[in-house]
Amino acid sequence: MKRLRIAVTKGRLLEDSVALFEKAGLDCAALKADTRKLILPIADYPLDVILAKAPDVLTYVTHGVCDLGIVGRDTILEHGGSFYEMLDLGYGACRFALAVRQGDDFYGSYRTRRVATKYPNVTKRYFAEKGMDVETIKIEGSVELGPILGLSDAIMDVVQTGTTLKENGLVPIEDVAQISARLIANPASVKLHRAEVLDFVEKCEAAL
Ligand code: PRP
Repeated sequence: MKRLRIAVTKGRLLEDSVALFEKAGLDCAALKADTRKLILPIADYPLDVILAKAPDVLTYVTHGVCDLGIVGRDTILEHGGSFYEMLDLGYGACRFALAVRQGDDFYGSYRTRRVATKYPNVTKRYFAEKGMDVETIKIEGSVELGPILGLSDAIMDVVQTGTTLKENGLVPIEDVAQISARLIANPASVKLHRAEVLDFVEKCEAAL
């Protein structure tokens, strides 16, 4: 059997990904060890796990240096790439929402609105579909600060529990897209290593 590589998003999705692998019957000892290693082999199955930042998961799978990947749909919608979406893994469930300061009327004037976001492509597409001209301002994190500091009229961001919005005096006004973790695959890998890829996909599917 050909040894496959799967790029897994570090951070929030990692714990659920490891739980999924364990449920699928894989030995995740290397993944659970306290280590700074970035390539971690599964002992009893032909699979190496590569830990990566979310957009890099798409890059590795698109370029074919990893056969498979686990990444949030938010990252897929923002960055795109050449890969197949094999499974909706269900975990990492959240949504893209447009949010404003409590009481603000986002659509209430004709001037160009400013929207702060970590996801400028998603934001531009959303408003282009509405036929509305907005100025998108890219922020790297804690996007909620945008309207509070007066940088923007709204934010487009990932909302999970809604706590961050609430604690910062913001309210969601529109749900834009549902998000969850996805298992993706490189198209050439699916063709060339079909048996191995499908074996892994079926294992994950059974464990869900
Ligand atoms: C994300 C997102 C929100 C928060 C939403 O940020 O950008 O700020 O989580 O979660 P909640 O609805 O459960 O409160 P993250 O923690 O990834 O950090 P960042 O803002 O620094 O990117």
